[in-house]
Amino acid sequence: MRPLLEMKHITKIYDSGVCANDDVSFSLEEGEIHAVAGENGAGKSTLMKILCGAEKPSSGEILLRGQKVSLHSPRDAQAAGIGMVWQHFMLVNEFPVYRNIYLGSEPKNRFGFLRDRQMIAEARELAKKYNMSVDVLAKCGELTVGQAQKVEILKVLSKGTKILILDEPTAVLTPQETDELFHQLLLLKEDGCSVVIITHKLNEIKRICDRVTVLRAGKSVGVYRVADVTEEEISSLMVGSAVSLQTEKTPSSPEGVAAEVNDLIVFGAGGKNVVNGVSFRVRYGEIVCLAGVEGNGQRETAETLCGLNRRYLGEVRVCGEDIGKRSVRRIRDLGVANIPEDRIRTGCDVGASIYDNLIALDYERENRFGFLKARAMKQKCRERMEKYSIKGTLSQKLGLLSGGNMQKVVVARELECEPSLVIADQPTRGIDVGAISFIHKKLVEMRDAGCAVLLVSADLNEVYDLADRILVFHEGEITAEIEDVKHTSEEQLGRYMLGVERMVIANE
Ligand SMILES: Nc1ncnc2c1ncn2[C@@H]1O[C@H](COP(=O)(O)OP(=O)(O)O)[C@@H](O)[C@H]1O
Ligand SMILES: [Mg+2]
Repeated sequence: MRPLLEMKHITKIYDSGVCANDDVSFSLEEGEIHAVAGENGAGKSTLMKILCGAEKPSSGEILLRGQKVSLHSPRDAQAAGIGMVWQHFMLVNEFPVYRNIYLGSEPKNRFGFLRDRQMIAEARELAKKYNMSVDVLAKCGELTVGQAQKVEILKVLSKGTKILILDEPTAVLTPQETDELFHQLLLLKEDGCSVVIITHKLNEIKRICDRVTVLRAGKSVGVYRVADVTEEEISSLMVGSAVSLQTEKTPSSPEGVAAEVNDLIVFGAGGKNVVNGVSFRVRYGEIVCLAGVEGNGQRETAETLCGLNRRYLGEVRVCGEDIGKRSVRRIRDLGVANIPEDRIRTGCDVGASIYDNLIALDYERENRFGFLKARAMKQKCRERMEKYSIKGTLSQKLGLLSGGNMQKVVVARELECEPSLVIADQPTRGIDVGAISFIHKKLVEMRDAGCAVLLVSADLNEVYDLADRILVFHEGEITAEIEDVKHTSEEQLGRYMLGVERMVIANE
């Protein structure tokens, strides 16, 4: 049978010279859910941007029901029934849901006024048709992430889309929201829609996809029926070698107190507290994970511990000292390392070389005549690059590295200064499986060496893999403290994350 859609020999070279897709072919059948999998930087988003008319291929062709089509713009793709839900939502927060759904194609009456009532009725109809419960009158700024995603999907479906593309849709969802999304995708499939889902989560591919196309370094390494391959096989196709998916780790044996937070309150914009009376301790030799849906106060808590946030109430002690009046540098001197979430903005200097980034924290790098101990420093850096398997050369600009390599530079710089407390905020977000596994092992090694690790993570696989203890954040409060991580189900964790259930936490 002829596939619904074929992309043949697609090559895309960006103006910067990066070859993001190298002779990639892709096909989609009617009514299938097809995963596009691959490590970060493999070219998944690029391939799908070409399909939805947002990027022009350098060469190759696209056939729809056997007919060659030219998709020069998202409008062309839309006319062909192809639509994409982007990784980053593009809703106007001040507008209600129904306005967002019809944004850019609002029906107007002959005087040029918007037909609000018509839009509201149609939006409700649409939501009902696709079984998505969302209040069409609510302002988008007030929606949860899961609801906002529904609006994005409805926006695409309202254009008569038959081929729906979603770029890493579950990255920001709770387990419950993910279940709901998957349920809706299955309904869409029953309805005759074809769905392409970009993901690097193996369990999701297994759960709802019919076939998977795996990309590696811009090339397609094959298309498989999901039923015929195991998660391990998909993962080794993605990285080109076998990787262990789970981090090996023995039970922790914590002692002493590395960090202590008592009744922490962090003020937010608009008079609402982002962190609202949180207390906990992190001991040496354990990994404590602040889990939760992003934006529930975890980051602000971690930032306060690093000295990056001075507007707080309560007591914060690190390595025995109150950090109240200490500068970031002084807190570092206490032995605190910080692996921040946004490596491009705060984690490193993308314009500088790997070398400069790696030695940024080595303060004693001048000899007594004031000269840089260049040769010794270079040797040190080479050793670090080797130890952390960072690909590249010392003089290479950091900005040209892949996300995984860039993050390993940050991790190497932070962990090599022998910290006693590591604060890691989403340390593996957006990087490839190989680098994730590497960084996980490093964090466990640090723990085993007696270091305290405070991990902020919204990725449940990571939480389960690393945490010795979990503190669940919801709206600036801790809703649960979980000691028995292995015997706590994802559903249970999800309920704490949503704040529908709370654990009674004994005061220490
Ligand atoms: N607009 C762009 N300009 C230049 N290079 C880009 C652009 N978008 C992506 N790239 C590069 O193309 C490669 C593939 O990126 P992408 O398609 O986003 O991969 P994935 O979605 O699999 O992570 C990466 O090396 C990335 O840095
Ligand atoms: Mg992408």
